[in-house]
Amino acid sequence: MRLIIFTGKGGVGKTSTSAATAYRLSELGYRTLLMSTDSAHSLGDSLDMKLGTEVMNVAENLDVLEVDIIHEMRTRWSTIQDYISAFMLSQGMGEISAEEMAILPGMEMISALFYVNQFNREGRYDVIVMDTAPTGETLRLLSFPDVTNWYIDRGFGVIKKLLGIARATVGKIMDMPLPSNEVMESVEDIKRNMEDVKEILEDPERTTVRLVLNPERMVIKETMRAYTYLCLYNKNVDTLIVNRVLPKEAGDGDYFREKLGEQEGYLDMIHSAFDPMKMRFCRTMRTELRGTDKLRLMADEVYGHDDPFQIHSRSSPMRFTHEGGIDNLEMRMPFVEGGDVELFRLDPSSIMVHVGSQKRNIQLPDTLINADIAGAEFKDSKLIIRFKRD
Ligand SMILES: Nc1ncnc2c1ncn2[C@@H]1O[C@H](COP(=O)(O)OP(=O)(O)OP(=O)(O)O)[C@@H](O)[C@H]1O
Ligand SMILES: [Mg+2]
Repeated sequence: MRLIIFTGKGGVGKTSTSAATAYRLSELGYRTLLMSTDSAHSLGDSLDMKLGTEVMNVAENLDVLEVDIIHEMRTRWSTIQDYISAFMLSQGMGEISAEEMAILPGMEMISALFYVNQFNREGRYDVIVMDTAPTGETLRLLSFPDVTNWYIDRGFGVIKKLLGIARATVGKIMDMPLPSNEVMESVEDIKRNMEDVKEILEDPERTTVRLVLNPERMVIKETMRAYTYLCLYNKNVDTLIVNRVLPKEAGDGDYFREKLGEQEGYLDMIHSAFDPMKMRFCRTMRTELRGTDKLRLMADEVYGHDDPFQIHSRSSPMRFTHEGGIDNLEMRMPFVEGGDVELFRLDPSSIMVHVGSQKRNIQLPDTLINADIAGAEFKDSKLIIRFKRD
C-alpha cells in the first residue's frame, strides 16, 4: 500500500491538492482512501459534499475519511479514556469527558496512524492520500511513532513497575485506581501499532511526503524548515507542488507585471531551496476551486498525463547522518559539474552553498544552529557538509 502525505503551511492548497490527487488515482483504477487528519476538516467543503465520521464511499474506487477525534475517543480509546477518567476522579479532579480528552495533543495523530496501519494490514486500499493540518502539527504527527514509544516506555514503564509492587502489597501504596489488564493491553497495542507505522512511514518505496507551497516569501521559508525536519525524520520527500502560480497571461497592466516580476524571484528562491526535487505547478484558477469538476481540472494541471502513484525518487535530496560526534548533511546535486564549494551563513539557521555555478539555500535544524561547520566537500554528485556540535 502506498501512502502519500500532503503537507505545507496554512492555506496553501493542501486539501485541494490531496482531493485532486485522490480523484485522479481513483480514476486510474487504484483503490483510494482520501483521509484528513486536520481537525478543522475541509475535505467536505473541497469535494462539495457532506461527510460523516466513518469511512464513506464517494465515487468508484474512492473512499473518504475525516478522522473525528471525539468519535475515536468514544470508540477506539474508550478503555484508556475510562481509566484516565477514573484516575482523575481519584485525584479529586473530577471526571474527564471524551470531549476534554480529545483536546490532548497527539490523540488525533495516533488515531490517524492507527487507521493507516489497519488498512495496510487489511490490504483494503492501494493508496491512502493524507491531507494534513498545517506544517507544525504534521511534523509532530510524523515524529509521533518515535515520541509515543518514548512516552510509553518512560510513563507506562513506571506504571508497570508500580503495578508489580502494588500487586505484591495488595494495592496499599496509593489511592489511585490501578490500570486493569485491559488498559495495559491497550497501551501495549498502541506501542505495537506505532512500531508498525514507523516502518511504513520510513519506507521510501511506500510512503512519500509531498510539500505544497505558494510562490511567497514566508511560505517558502516555512516550507524549507518543514523539509529539513522531514529529512531529519527520514521521510522520503519526493515532490514539491507549487500552487497558485500567477500565469503569464494574468494581465498586461503595471500591477500584474510587478506581481509577475516578484513571482520570478520567488520561483528562483524555490529552485535554490528544493532542487533537484520533482516540482509540479498549478496556476491560480479563475474561480473557486471546489467540487469534483474543478478538482479534476486541478489534477490535469498538476499531473498532466502522469500517474500520481509514481514515486519520483528513492530518497529525499537532503539527508542527515551522524557518526563519531560529527553530523553530516548530504545533499544530492546531480546536475552540478563540480568545482569549489563555498559556504555562507545567511543567519544562524540558514546557509547558502555555492558549488560551481549552482547555489543551494539550506535551512538547518535547531540542533545544528550553534554547531561549527567542520568541513564541506563535493563528491559523486553529492555535497557533504560536516558539523561539529559543542
Ligand atoms: N490553484 C488555486 N487556484 C484558486 N484557488 C485555490 C487554488 N488552490 C487553492 N485554492 C483555494 O484556496 C483556499 C485554500 O485552499 P485549501 O483549503 O486547499 O488549502 P489548505 O492548505 O488545505 O488550507 P488549510 O491550511 O486551512 O487546511 C480554498 O478556498 C481553495 O479553493
Ligand atoms: Mg486543508
